[in-house]
Formats: sequence, structure tokens, C-alpha cells
Amino acid sequence: MMNIYILGIESSCDDTSAAVLRNTEVLSNIIANQEVHERFGGVVPELASRAHQQNIIPVVDTALKQANISKKELQVIAFTRGPGLLGSLLVGSSFAKAFALASNIQLVEVDHMEAHILAHFITTSESKKVPEFPFLCLTVSGGHTQIVVVKDYFEMEIIGKTIDDAAGEAFDKAAKIMGLPYPGGPLIDLYAKDGDPSKFKFSEPRIPDLDYSFSGLKTSILYFLRDRLKEDPMFIEANKNDLCASIQDSIVKILMKKLIMASKQTGIKQIAIAGGVSANSGLRNALNNAALQNKWEVFIPKAGLSTDNAAMIAITGYFKFLRNEIAHQKQKPYARQSAR
Ligand code: KG4
Ligand code: ZN
Repeated sequence: MMNIYILGIESSCDDTSAAVLRNTEVLSNIIANQEVHERFGGVVPELASRAHQQNIIPVVDTALKQANISKKELQVIAFTRGPGLLGSLLVGSSFAKAFALASNIQLVEVDHMEAHILAHFITTSESKKVPEFPFLCLTVSGGHTQIVVVKDYFEMEIIGKTIDDAAGEAFDKAAKIMGLPYPGGPLIDLYAKDGDPSKFKFSEPRIPDLDYSFSGLKTSILYFLRDRLKEDPMFIEANKNDLCASIQDSIVKILMKKLIMASKQTGIKQIAIAGGVSANSGLRNALNNAALQNKWEVFIPKAGLSTDNAAMIAITGYFKFLRNEIAHQKQKPYARQSAR
């Protein structure tokens, strides 16, 4: 089979990323994080668009150089069309459209959430093992929390989702309450490593079926800390590790409960996790434990493929290109999945 070289572009939120794939194999995956948002405690859309505009050319340039590929060797450029911040999406999609026209290569549009899941089909020299259809994927990011039945590459059914905050948001908001900088998820993971997860208990959601809710947990953390801080202004500092471990444990337990239910209901025992929160070590441990107990075969994204990256956009673009699903220059970005 002829080799296909794909350039992937991701700019849906606050990371500018470009990657080059040869078929399903990553040759480069460059990510420029935007530090401008840290002091605002969250992503500022206006600043994100500007930073994308600034970063996109150098990031693409570096990705091509690191892959040792010239523009002429590329057959496809794949870009994130949505969901995400509209101003951010516009930078990546406009770049991709212009690049496709100028280089006379094929343009492919990619859904960010499908891409998080299809990142599991990226192969490396160490591992060629990929999930088989149908599998379940718990997709947990800063904007989404979904249990998806993946029947085929582009045949996905959402059987459970959050009715309020996403799991990543729950991590980030809890971190913010504790006074940690944005994004707090990775910091909670870090501090939790030296903490006692059973030290503090927070409220558990009572939501039917396979849906999730995290707003109650957030409120319960907020009130708990408010009361404790009244007695001891140093409470957070003195209990940082135990607080982080307990918060992480609560979120992970909420996530696992419905995932286990979903596996029982569907009878599917191939289970994957995807999205930024799938980098969380507590979730990874819980998934591996559940695998032993429930005889699951589990799939955890390889390093650098959990959080937003362009390699996942490129692999999705690769499968679409093989199906001859070429994008039109007129296609516009969508901010929400429902507007697809
Ligand atoms: O998928 P992603 O990179 O961007 C979105 O599409 O939203 O996910 C980002 C989210 C953030 O909320 C971040 O705090 C969270 O993933 N995250 C983590 C960890 N790494 C990233 N949450 C907990 N533990 C981590 N290790
Ligand atoms: Zn994402």
C-alpha cells in the first residue's frame, strides 16, 4: 500500500497543535500551550484566538521539520471543525483551507470529540494493539463527559453524558476553589499522589441512567472549605495533598460507577478512556482495577495523546480520507456538537 502523509491541525481551545502522520504512525506532534490564561483562572476566548494566530505558522513549520517531510509530500491536511471556541476554530480552519488550496492537497474536516476517541488507532513501534468494534469509550475532557458506544470509526452513539459540568471542569473548578492556577486538573493529580483519598467525603450525585452531574460535588467542596477556613485559615495549605486525593477519588468514583453500569447494560467489555482527564493517574488506576474485576480489556491513550493534540486530528483525517470524505472550502466551524 502506498504511504499517505497527513498534516493535522488542532486549534479548538487553548492549545495550538500540528502533527504529521504516515498512515497511522506519528512522525511529529507539536503542541504550543498558551500560558496567557493561567492568571485568569480559565481560558479567555479572545486571547486564545490571538495566541493561535501567533503560533500556528511556527507550530506547523516545526511539525514538518521534525517529521522530516516537505510540504510536497503531504496528500492531506485535516483540521478540527468543532466543537470548540469559534474564534480559535476559525484560525485553524482558515489556515487549513488556505494551505490545501496553496499546496493543492485534499482538505478533511474532523470532529474534535471523535478524534479524542480515534486517537486509540494511532500505532507506535512499541504497540500496534487497537480496540475492536464495538467498544465503549469514556470521553472526559474540559468541555465534555460522555459514554460512547463506538460501533465503527464514524458510527458512535452517546449513551450517557453530563447534565452540567464536564469532568475536567470539575477538576479545574475544585482546583480554583483551592486557589490553584488554571488548568488545575494536572495539579490535583500531582498533589493527590501523596494524599489520603478517604480523608474527606463530598456529596455524591444521584442522577438516573448513564448520565453524570458534577455541579453538586463542586458546591459541596465549596461549602466544606468555606466552613473549615472559618476555623482555620491555613486549612487548605495544611491539607493540600489529602484534599486533592479526596477530590480526585470522588470524581473518579463518579466516572467509574456509570462506566461499569454501561458495560453491564451493553455487554461490551472492551473499554477505552479518552480526552484530557484520561491522563489522570487515579482514573487510570481505577480503570485497570475494574478491568481485573470485570474481565475487561482496557485501552488508555499513549503519552501525549490524552490531552488536545493534532495527531488525533490527523488519524481521524486519515480514516476519512480513506473513505473519500473530502471537505468543502465553504464548510464553517461549529462551536457545539449539536450544531454539527
Ligand atoms: O481534552 P482536553 O485537553 O481539552 C478539551 O478538549 O477540553 O482536556 C482538558 C482538561 C482540563 O480540564 C484539564 O484540567 C484536564 O483535562 N486534565 C486533567 C489531567 N490532565 C488534563 N485532569 C485531571 N488529571 C490530569 N492528569
Ligand atoms: Zn479535547
